[in-house]
Amino acid sequence: MTKVIVSPSILSADFANLERDIKLVESNGADWIHVDVMDGHFVPNITIGIPVVKSIRKVTLLPLDVHLMIENPQKYIEDFAKAGADILTIHFEAVKKEDLRSVIEHIRSLGVKAGLSIKPKTNPQEILEFLPMLDLVLVMTVEPGFGGQKFMPDCAEKIKIIKSNSESELIIQVDGGINDETAKICIENGATSLVAGNYIYKADDVKNAIESLKL
Ligand code: DX5
Ligand code: ZN
Repeated sequence: MTKVIVSPSILSADFANLERDIKLVESNGADWIHVDVMDGHFVPNITIGIPVVKSIRKVTLLPLDVHLMIENPQKYIEDFAKAGADILTIHFEAVKKEDLRSVIEHIRSLGVKAGLSIKPKTNPQEILEFLPMLDLVLVMTVEPGFGGQKFMPDCAEKIKIIKSNSESELIIQVDGGINDETAKICIENGATSLVAGNYIYKADDVKNAIESLKL
């Protein structure tokens, strides 16, 4: 069975203690660190940006999985790559379709893994043509913008469509409302990477919470 990659979202961490909270998940089995970048335009919320990525790069050895919920991500991918992102995931809805190929190529030319995300209302058929050039597809299982929302089961169906149209190396990630139960649904459908914020950071036992996602 493919090993599941768990990527705790630091959106649910204490921003005044980011180093502590990153080390907490690093020492308890996290595989990646998920960084939610929001610009107040593509999504209604504003979170963190390039300087924070640069700072957290220094305190962890884990890959930084940067989820760009921003308009015109092409303007910033070079800066995020320089700041230390290992994976840069842009949103399909944030870039003109005719520009998407060159943006993905640009990310890969910087030596960074390229991810493409779809919001709950986006049809997965729209992105099938891009799958061969991607390292990761992120299927959002909530409307992006906030942590702590309820998992949308309909979105999990999309994983199957992505999986049946891709090579086995493509990482299929889910994000939003992931806990031990919803993780199982996603893994059964073919997800290989799970983002979880509240489920991990609000847990009494972080190690158990991370382990329970991999079962
Ligand atoms: C939502 C973000 C998620 C969020 C997940 O827009 O992309 O990464 O932090 O939080 P939970 O796991 O609490 O739903
Ligand atoms: Zn995210």
